[in-house]
Amino acid sequence: MEKYKDKSVGTDERAEDLLSRMTVEEKIGQMLQVSYNTLSEEDYERYQELGIGSFLHVLGSEADDIRAKAANTRLGIPPIFGIDAIHGHALLNGATVFPSQLAVSCSFNRELIREMGRCTAREVAADGLDWTFSPVLCIARDLRWGRVDETFGEDSYVVGELGGAIIDGYECDNYIIACAKHYIAYGEAAGGRDAYDSPVTERKIREVFLPPFKKAADIGCGSMMTAYGSIDTLPLTANRHILREILKEEIGFDGFIVTDWENVRSLVTNQHVAEDLTEASKKAVEAGNDMSMNTHEFYECMLRLVGDSKIDMDLIDDAVRRILKIKFRLGLFDEKIRPNRDVIGCRGHKNVNYELAKESIVLLKNDNVLPLKGDTKTIAVVGPNTDDIRAQYGDWTFFSHPTPKENVAPLSDFYTVLRGMREVFGGKNILYSKGCDIYGRENYISDAVKAAEKADAVVCVIGDCLAQNGEYRDRADLELSGHQLELVKRLVGTQKPVIAVLVNCKPLCISYLKESCAAVIESFNGGDLGGMAVAEMMAGKFNPSGKLSISFPRHSAQTPCYYNQYTGWHGGGYVDLPKGNVYDFGDGLSYSKFEYSDLKLSKAKAAAGEIINVTVNVKNNGDMDGKETVMMFVNDVVSSHLTPTKQLKGFEKVFIKAGDTKKVTLKLDTNDLALVTSDLKYVVENGDFEIMVGRNTKEYLTAILTIE
Ligand code: NOJ
Repeated sequence: MEKYKDKSVGTDERAEDLLSRMTVEEKIGQMLQVSYNTLSEEDYERYQELGIGSFLHVLGSEADDIRAKAANTRLGIPPIFGIDAIHGHALLNGATVFPSQLAVSCSFNRELIREMGRCTAREVAADGLDWTFSPVLCIARDLRWGRVDETFGEDSYVVGELGGAIIDGYECDNYIIACAKHYIAYGEAAGGRDAYDSPVTERKIREVFLPPFKKAADIGCGSMMTAYGSIDTLPLTANRHILREILKEEIGFDGFIVTDWENVRSLVTNQHVAEDLTEASKKAVEAGNDMSMNTHEFYECMLRLVGDSKIDMDLIDDAVRRILKIKFRLGLFDEKIRPNRDVIGCRGHKNVNYELAKESIVLLKNDNVLPLKGDTKTIAVVGPNTDDIRAQYGDWTFFSHPTPKENVAPLSDFYTVLRGMREVFGGKNILYSKGCDIYGRENYISDAVKAAEKADAVVCVIGDCLAQNGEYRDRADLELSGHQLELVKRLVGTQKPVIAVLVNCKPLCISYLKESCAAVIESFNGGDLGGMAVAEMMAGKFNPSGKLSISFPRHSAQTPCYYNQYTGWHGGGYVDLPKGNVYDFGDGLSYSKFEYSDLKLSKAKAAAGEIINVTVNVKNNGDMDGKETVMMFVNDVVSSHLTPTKQLKGFEKVFIKAGDTKKVTLKLDTNDLALVTSDLKYVVENGDFEIMVGRNTKEYLTAILTIE
């Protein structure tokens, strides 16, 4: 009896049995993933006959056809279908489009982000697919980088916590697996240039970039993706130490590693560390990659290497075993039960989406203008992103991937800010003018000013567009592009209260908005319902609770500006700029005032390894119920190496009724106080640690914990 066909046998045993029956060709076939969209008709047939391991960017019924053909190969090994379901299964028009990863990170809401993963998994699985290339666990350290929108922000701890939550959501029903990417330090490429060298040391990798990936491995994430770039000149694809030794051997990651798009080819064509694709394939597999994404020749190259005895068969077996185990774990060999297609874009998912859209919005400034009062009758709603769903969605939807599309309309019931404002405040009360476009090609500023003059308040929706967002789309200049600043200045000149709403992929330089507008709202890429959430927030239908997971610089050249930099001598300012950021990590207002008191530690002295309960009372001093994210930062007062003066080590989001006080408990694992020494040891050093608990990096209470 073929054990691998027997459902009652354990996954590992089934994988082992199947592996023992496979030819070298079949094994290497499993290690190849090809893009459906880049294949010729002829190759497409050929790869199906070969029974290759995986296809990416297949949608809908095509997957069923490929699956049926695979069932007819000698061993009938099913392919695993991968898709970029980055903020929802958004490459499929009609599926739920959630806010971007950066937007939802501002909610600091683990439960909702887990639900986002769960809804997405259902939609992906209902569409016949098995695997999302998400989440991105890169840390957004250089704002010029085009992919900041895909991250959970600038802080390693937040990335790990929210990454863990979404992975759990993706995988908890066993419909699909997640893919933690891009391993590793992609967000710190020199100059913010996409897919370049990241000049970081192993010490820094271990301290800053590795923890979220370790967390993903610890919770059983099914796969990880190798970044395009290099670390201190060694391409990650060929980096045995980083992939095999650290991730697989030391951390014990037991899923499989897929390269990013054409990484194997890139070792020859872009990075020039391999003479030809055969050498590149050898380096990639030896380094620890188990599956090659879309370098088709990998298949022939690997066969050649085996034929010439130039590669260790054990490495191939290890890679195939990992892939097969995941396929068994997902039930791909058995009758897999998938959700019905009607979950795609369903009401239940929309509800989760709306909750997330609401909690993702960050109110950055409010000169007592919001919520809009009853005497605000006429509202001018102006600006290039007022009614642009492409900009509001951001990257990774059917508009941009797998191939860019111009003339498509979303099938889902989406809300731009304009539609939201019309529904919430009544269409006859809204005066709309686009004002200008993002690039400065169109200028109708006078129309917008006329609308503003007739109105009681002005809502100006500005930001960036799809062409400024994503891979290859790094920006040297983070100022508002085109005539947008001129538009805001002219509106401010009308003396009407101007509420600036940002619909954008990442932090831009917005000093002028902070100085001159009556209110500033950051909504990033808010998904299907972002516009409704902005409008309802302005109407006071809910209390805003988002906080920034990323800092905003005054000037493009001030980047990097993340909050947890190492200390220096001379203050870190510039002679030609005021000190500090425009907005910092953790900033975000509420319609309530939250007051913190009674910070207590369960112990004032502890040994490394102990857990400390940190408690604080938080009072909602406003007249509206609201949610508050309580943040806990630590400072290792005197340490053998530089450490940031504030490093987040815990957060909890709590709901507090108007007038109520809640006691909030945060758990501090003293092992998390470790620093990484120059000889790569994790050490909790004896001495005092400041434990700071509060609203953000500036408003907090402090207690001292002594490690002895
Ligand atoms: C390249 C991107 O870097 C990666 O994030 C994505 O998952 C793959 N292409 C597949 O589309």
